[in-house]
Amino acid sequence: NQRVLTGITTTGTPHLGNYVGAIRPAIAASREPGVESFFFLADYHALIKCDDPARIARSRLEIAATWLAAGLDTGRVTFYAQSDIPEITELNWLLTCVTAKGQMNRAHAYKASVDANEAKGVEPDDGVTMGLFCYPILMAADILMFNAHRVPVGRDQVQHIEMARDVAQRFNHQFGAGRELFVLPEAEIEESVATLPGLDGRKMSKSYDNTVPLFEGGAKGLRDAIARVVTDSRLPGEPKDPDSAHLVTLHDAFADAATREVFRRDLVAGLGWGDAKQRVVDLIEAHVGPMRAAYAELMAHPERIEAVLQAGAAKARQTATPFIQELRQAVGLRAMV
Ligand code: TYM
Repeated sequence: NQRVLTGITTTGTPHLGNYVGAIRPAIAASREPGVESFFFLADYHALIKCDDPARIARSRLEIAATWLAAGLDTGRVTFYAQSDIPEITELNWLLTCVTAKGQMNRAHAYKASVDANEAKGVEPDDGVTMGLFCYPILMAADILMFNAHRVPVGRDQVQHIEMARDVAQRFNHQFGAGRELFVLPEAEIEESVATLPGLDGRKMSKSYDNTVPLFEGGAKGLRDAIARVVTDSRLPGEPKDPDSAHLVTLHDAFADAATREVFRRDLVAGLGWGDAKQRVVDLIEAHVGPMRAAYAELMAHPERIEAVLQAGAAKARQTATPFIQELRQAVGLRAMV
């Protein structure tokens, strides 16, 4: 069986980038025959970036409700919160002990903080917690705990998955005694949506505050957000360059090949940006509109969401508990049953 696994950090409301980069491909993969899936809320990771408990608590519900509204079938998928699986933090430590510090120095998220500090003229590690520094190890623990083969993600996560492979390889070599304790995971990227642009054309990201929320704000919120997508100043009637417009990338993320073709042709023929945006709104709305009612219904019943997560955690631990015992023994510790 092929195992597919992915997670989303619970620091904000899900946006179109999370949907096309992770949720949509993951749910599609979970429907393939012979696939076993593990999708989760990365709520330990959230603590690295966010110290607002109310925001984390709300985001956990919003992200869980989004997965469920988007069609996750809990009969096929093991769906849980990372923080409900204590084996993951235990594995995190086993992996920490085989991870070179130098490798963590090269992690993008850490390097970005160091670069920002240098630009500000402060100490390189100013404000950097050990959580941020070790972020990729916790992510490796998420993936290796369930021996995932495939990890559907956006491009920004590729380095983390390569690091998880390296850690897995080192651990296998050191403790496997000829066995492959860990599967070497692979990132699964959909090229056309690997980096969905946000309102300003940079990667859509909570940290750039340029996101289009998937459900929050309703149909009006979607329309208002798309209205704020930056376009060049060409007027209606003037030919546009579809290849340089990130509105087109947003459009294409929700369009079939024929619709993409028509959109490009009309832009070149002088379709105005206002009308073009209306088409993008209609297209996205046709896709997410039908899921919105399910989302609202779930958000009105947080206890149902919690119950789903608890059942998922119990199922996940059926895999995690025996595996962590095996790993404890492999490194020379006593199995704890
Ligand atoms: P996070 O929460 O930042 O993003 C969740 C998923 O959404 C994808 N994504 C995008 N894809 C395309 N275009 C965008 N603009 C865009 N923005 C976000 C991300 O690539 C990701 O797939 N560290 C991870 C969470 C995590 C995880 C894991 C993922 C923790 N453990 C194990 C996979 C496996 C993160 O912060 O993603």
